[in-house]
Formats: sequence, structure tokens, C-alpha cells
Amino acid sequence: MTEQPDNENATGERILIAVDGPAASGKGTIARALARHFNLPHMDTGMLYRAVALNLWRWGGDMASEFEALRACDVAAVDPDDPELRSEAVSSIASRISAYPSVRAALLERQREFAGQPGGAVLDGRDIGTVVAPEADAKLFVTASAQIRAQRRVRELLERGLPAHYEDVLVDIRARDERDMNRATAPLAQAADAMLLDTSDLDVDGAIGEAVRLVGERLAVR
Ligand code: CDP
Repeated sequence: MTEQPDNENATGERILIAVDGPAASGKGTIARALARHFNLPHMDTGMLYRAVALNLWRWGGDMASEFEALRACDVAAVDPDDPELRSEAVSSIASRISAYPSVRAALLERQREFAGQPGGAVLDGRDIGTVVAPEADAKLFVTASAQIRAQRRVRELLERGLPAHYEDVLVDIRARDERDMNRATAPLAQAADAMLLDTSDLDVDGAIGEAVRLVGERLAVR
């Protein structure tokens, strides 16, 4: 769930970076690259919600029950390398249980602690710039068209040897966008002070280059 670099960031000052965006926008790749570039620890907060979803699924819990989802929030026993965490079944449960206020509250402290580390950190998710770390020094909101995101997800699934059909994946991405943007608690939203990065027409290197440039510029005028 998290990656720790060996040493502190090069400048010795605290740098907190928030990366938010919808499913398959490229925010995870960008956040990892920013962490490497600025030598900061990184937390993929979606993995916390996925871990809760996997717990619930293994217990045979009911995702329609907020109470059962809350009981699945003790994720200490979940192996962060479990390939099941990235499965479509778990993604779909994660998208549903993340709407429960008590589940979000149960996972918040851990994310805030990570964000509060002395040297700073990079966190990616849906509500980092708005709820988890509104004080972040630089915020990116990473997006891309639903069609491009569906194409990327299909490629990713096929590369992992899993079956994937473009139309199904597109429907799923739109459903997840809808749930993420319209939930009452911590909906997916661009923070007022976040920089928008649309990766629709960018390849991976292009998106990373643009992210490093935008964040570097923002940090320079702190
Ligand atoms: O990689 P992808 O965007 O498909 O998913 P993820 O970032 O691993 O997040 C999994 C699910 O957790 C998403 O469907 C979101 O609904 C939820 N999530 C959230 O509500 N808040 C976060 N900070 C991170 C993820």
C-alpha cells in the first residue's frame, strides 16, 4: 500500500503532494513517478478501500450493509501484494463500500498520519486534496475521457491475462464515476486550488513530464 524511499527528500523541506482523479486516469502512475522524482514516500489510498473490499468478500459479508463493511476495515491481515486486490470483483465492491461515511472515517486517520510525516509525502485517491490533506503544497487533479480510460483499463486487464471487453469496461467506468462524484461524503471533486492535468492525449512519459513540471512550478512559488 505504501512505498518508503531510503532517505529524506533532497531539499530537506516538507513537501506534501495530493493527486486525485477518476478510475484509470493515470493518477497512480503519476503519483508514483512524483514520489520517485521528489524522493517522497507514496500512499495509494485506493488500496485501503480495496483491502476492505477484499476482507468483506473473503468473509462473505454483504456490501449493501454499512455495518458489515465497517467490520471489514481492520485490514492489517491483508497482504498488500495479493493480486486479488486488483480484480474487477474487488474494484466493484471497493467502489460501493467507499461511499459509506463510517468506512471513510475509519480509514481517514491512517491517511492523515501518512500525510503528516516530517519530510512530506505523495498520496493519491479521490479526496486527498479536499479532505485528507487540504493543506497540501501541490495538488493535481488527473483526468482523461471515459473512452480513453476504458481503453487503458482493457489493455491493463489483457496484459494481466484477464478477460476484458471494451463496452463492459466503459459502462463500469461510467458507473464508478457516477458513484464517486455523487456520494454525500467526500465525493470525487477537483479542489479549488488543484491543477488540472488531462492525460487523454498524453502517453505515460508525457503525462509524468507534465505532472513533474506543474508540481515543480507550484512548489517554486510556495
Ligand atoms: O485504480 P482505480 O482508480 O480503478 O481505483 P482505486 O484508486 O484503487 O480506488 C478503488 C475505489 O476506492 C474507487 O472506486 C473509489 O471509489 C474508492 N476510493 C475512494 O473513495 N477514495 C479514495 N481516496 C481512494 C479510492
